[in-house]
Amino acid sequence: MSRPKIIAGNWKMNCTPAETKELITSLVASERSDTEVVTIVCPPFTSLSAASELLSKSSIVLGAQNLSEHESGAYTAEISASMLVATGVKYVIIGHSERRQYYYETDSLINAKLKIAINTGLFPIFCVGETLEEREAGNSQEVVSGQLLNGVNGLSVENLKNLTVAYEPVWAIGTGKTATPEMAQDMHKFIRENMAKIEPAIANSTPILYGGSVKPDNAAGLLNQPDIDGALVGGASLSADSFMKIIEAA
Ligand code: PGA
Repeated sequence: MSRPKIIAGNWKMNCTPAETKELITSLVASERSDTEVVTIVCPPFTSLSAASELLSKSSIVLGAQNLSEHESGAYTAEISASMLVATGVKYVIIGHSERRQYYYETDSLINAKLKIAINTGLFPIFCVGETLEEREAGNSQEVVSGQLLNGVNGLSVENLKNLTVAYEPVWAIGTGKTATPEMAQDMHKFIRENMAKIEPAIANSTPILYGGSVKPDNAAGLLNQPDIDGALVGGASLSADSFMKIIEAA
């Protein structure tokens, strides 16, 4: 079963609307029409409108970095799934380790966010990954399978078809340390086996992205692995040049 290659840029808390315009204009200018790689950019909330307009004639797809688990109402400062859809957003990152670590997002909150995202027509990029301590203690697989199982709890087969998983070892994010292609492949294969246990029908079709210090010089080695279907790129997605090089390596 062939899966699409996906390269997603997680801009994190970077880029004002003016900076977004500059970066997207460069990306669109160097966009290639002969590629089958699905390219996604995830700017911060305040830049989504500007990005959406600039991408209206492009094949680059718009993503967001978070959303509320609630539909609407008195939840000061929160952004709902339907607000994202109305702004032209298609994908949404859910369960990023920075949200788990700094904003205390739990598996059950992440589960609620996955449900509302899918029910509103968004495609979640669901992040899982172990910390350095957990890896050194030999618990990586247990942690990742727990995050997976709890995250997708109660999702139907139809729901699961809209899911993209991102394996992001926490020790590799923003640190310049990358998992070797073999280490990443081992975990991706393990994730796919877990997906098969959750729902055999979707295991082969679920894209699993790798994230954590992906750069132009290490992208090809990672992306050539059989179970690595793309990358979730942080730092290197903030330069059009390095992001395009990663797309070319896919
Ligand atoms: P990084 O971030 O590429 O800067 O390590 C990846 C991520 O956190 O999604």
